[in-house]
Amino acid sequence: MIVVTGATGNVGQPLVQALAAAGEQVTAVSRRISELDVPVGVRRRQADLTEPASLKPALHGAEALFLLTSPDFMANGDLGDVMNVVRAVGVRRVVLLSSHGVGTRRHSSHLEDAVEQSGLEWTMLRPGNFNSNTFQWADSVRAQRMVVAPFGDVAVPGIDPADIAEVAAVALREPGHEGAIYTLTGPVPISPRQQAAAIGDVVGEPVQFVEQSRAEARNQMLRYMPEPVVEATLGALGAPSAAEQRVSPDVERLLGRPPRTFAEWAERNVAAFE
Ligand SMILES: NC(=O)c1ccc[n+]([C@@H]2O[C@H](COP(=O)([O-])OP(=O)(O)OC[C@H]3O[C@@H](n4cnc5c(N)ncnc54)[C@H](OP(=O)(O)O)[C@@H]3O)[C@@H](O)[C@H]2O)c1
Repeated sequence: MIVVTGATGNVGQPLVQALAAAGEQVTAVSRRISELDVPVGVRRRQADLTEPASLKPALHGAEALFLLTSPDFMANGDLGDVMNVVRAVGVRRVVLLSSHGVGTRRHSSHLEDAVEQSGLEWTMLRPGNFNSNTFQWADSVRAQRMVVAPFGDVAVPGIDPADIAEVAAVALREPGHEGAIYTLTGPVPISPRQQAAAIGDVVGEPVQFVEQSRAEARNQMLRYMPEPVVEATLGALGAPSAAEQRVSPDVERLLGRPPRTFAEWAERNVAAFE
C-alpha cells in the first residue's frame, strides 16, 4: 500500500489517480480530505503533518510514502518527528517532494536531511517553479483579462505538477530509485509574459500583462508564505542562476517522453481562467 500526503493538491491529486489507475492500493491523506477528493475505491484518512501521531492510522500497513510538506508545516512542523513515526510503523520507502532550490542552494535542505537521516530508502524530487502557481492569476484573468506579476521577461523552465506526479509514481512503485535525486523541470524556459499570453490563447482573448515591482510582489507573497521562502522564490524567479534556467533531462529519462508544456497545462486548466 502506498500513502500519499498532500493528496488534495496540485501534485497529490494526479498522483493518487495515477497510482489507483495502475492498480495500487492507495491511502490519500490531508487534513480535510473528503469523499469527493478521491477516486472511487481509494482509502482516505485525515491527518495533520504538524501532529505526526495523527498519521499513524493512515500509515498502518504501508510500504511506501509520498511526503509533501506545506507552508504551515514549514512554520509549525518538524520532519524529524514525522520520520520517527514513519519508521516506527514499518514504512520502507519515502519519496520526498523537495525543491530545485535545495540543489541551487536557495533553500536549506533540512527536509531532505530528516529523510536521509531516517535510514529508510529515499528518493528526492526537486522540482522548479510549478505551472500551477499561475492559478493565482485566475481571478484577474476572469474579471479583467489581466495578469499582474513581477519579472515579466525572466524565463525559467516551469514544471507541470502532473509530470511531478508521474515521476513520483515511478519512484514509489518501481525499484532502482533508492538514493536518487531528480531535478524536475518543464521542456523549455518560459517567462510570466509568455505564460499570460498562453492563457490568453486558451481562453480565446488577449490577456494583458502588467509588470509588478519586486517590492509589490514581495508584500503580496508575504500574505501566504514565510519570509525566507518569499525571498528564495523571488530570487529564483527574478535572478535565476544558470542551473535554475537549465532544462533537466530527468522527466524525459524517467517517463520516456518530454515534459508537458505550459500550453498543455493551460489547456487542461482553462476552466479556472474562463
Ligand atoms: N509551487 C512551486 O513552485 C514549488 C516549487 C518547488 C517545490 N514546491 C513544493 O511543493 C509543495 C506544494 O505542492 P502542491 O502545489 O501540490 O501543494 P498544494 O496544491 O498547495 O496542496 C497542499 C496539500 O497539502 C495538504 N496539507 C497542507 N497542510 C497540511 C498539513 N499540515 N498536514 C497534512 N496535509 C496538509 C493540503 O490539504 P489540506 O489543506 O486538506 O490539509 C493539500 O492536499 C510544497 O512542499 C512546496 O515546497 C513548490
